Amino acid sequence: MKGLILSGGKGTRLYPITYTSAKQLVPVANKPVLYRVIEAIRDAGIDDIGIVVGDTAAEIQEAVGTGRRWGVKITYIKQDAPLGLAHAVKVSRDFLGDDRFVMFLGDNVIEGGISGLISEFRDSGYDSQIVLTPVENPSRYGVAELDPDTRRIIRLVEKPRNPPSNLILVGIYMFNEHIWEAVNAIKPSWRGELEITDAIQYLVDKDYNVHPYIHRGWWIDTGEPGEMLEANDLVLDEIEHNIDGYIDRDSQINGKVTVEKGAEVINSRIRGPAIIGQDSRIVNSYVGPFTSIYHHVLLEGSEIEHSIVLEHSQIIDIPYRIEDSLIGRHSIITRSPIKPKALKMTLGDHSHVGIL
Ligand code: TTP
Repeated sequence: MKGLILSGGKGTRLYPITYTSAKQLVPVANKPVLYRVIEAIRDAGIDDIGIVVGDTAAEIQEAVGTGRRWGVKITYIKQDAPLGLAHAVKVSRDFLGDDRFVMFLGDNVIEGGISGLISEFRDSGYDSQIVLTPVENPSRYGVAELDPDTRRIIRLVEKPRNPPSNLILVGIYMFNEHIWEAVNAIKPSWRGELEITDAIQYLVDKDYNVHPYIHRGWWIDTGEPGEMLEANDLVLDEIEHNIDGYIDRDSQINGKVTVEKGAEVINSRIRGPAIIGQDSRIVNSYVGPFTSIYHHVLLEGSEIEHSIVLEHSQIIDIPYRIEDSLIGRHSIITRSPIKPKALKMTLGDHSHVGIL
């Protein structure tokens, strides 16, 4: 079997973070989501992986490289424009050949990995296996309707007003060679994209065996800032924590906390689950639960909780606690010594700032 990871797309819902960089490289618990996807596929026993890339190809190739680090072989596949998930499959024809494959959206995180569902598909005669999960608000997603007796998929609907079930499509799909017939037959949708739901519906209508696999743990599509923070909460709680950095005697560490190599915690309090990245400094500060501080960050005289701070940022002497925030790379948040007392900001387009 082969693996196909989709890492093209525009990432508009994560602007401004994704204006200049790939959303799949935004870290959750200090590891880019894309690395977590590669590891999930590798841990399921697949070492031949294609990554579909778009405008951010150079950045992704530089970050991921050949795949040797994970013991896998990575092939990059260029998609000239983000014309839909089924279009991304189509452009991967040469890489995939007629092999069975698993397709994984490069911005999705799933609890417990995918070994179980891969082995179920590998040992089956299914033409396709679609991962579904029950949610409370299915209208925001692609929803599957199952036959109440046979439990087979009858119909897939995108963002329905009246959802036929609470089972939504998770961004993980498995196919055999019949997918080629489907992606070549379908036409672009109203939004101009070749939809994977239409390709799967084609397989269902042609009576191919499309098996629904119901996933019971958590799953997050990290397309929006709130979802990114939610994924960060869940992963911080799940991973093993280690202290490799320096903590001085005046600091207090409570709960599940990682302090990476070269990081320093000075006269501060860290209440986990939290992670402090390589070569970051936390000085006279408080870091509260569900916070990920990436590498080379300086937090001084400030308090932060339930947030993600990206690399090389500085937060200095802020008199209010920062919460529920996603702070981009090389950001500087500090008090200004110059009068008048006023808020002074240099913000990228689409920035969000909440002021009391
Ligand atoms: P989406 O989140 O549906 O699309 P997007 O990345 O363009 O984001 P936004 O809606 O915020 O503008 O994409 C899901 C995943 O699939 C994501 O990792 C990007 C990838 N993708 C492709 O590789 N090619 C495509 O044509 C599309 C639409 C998405």
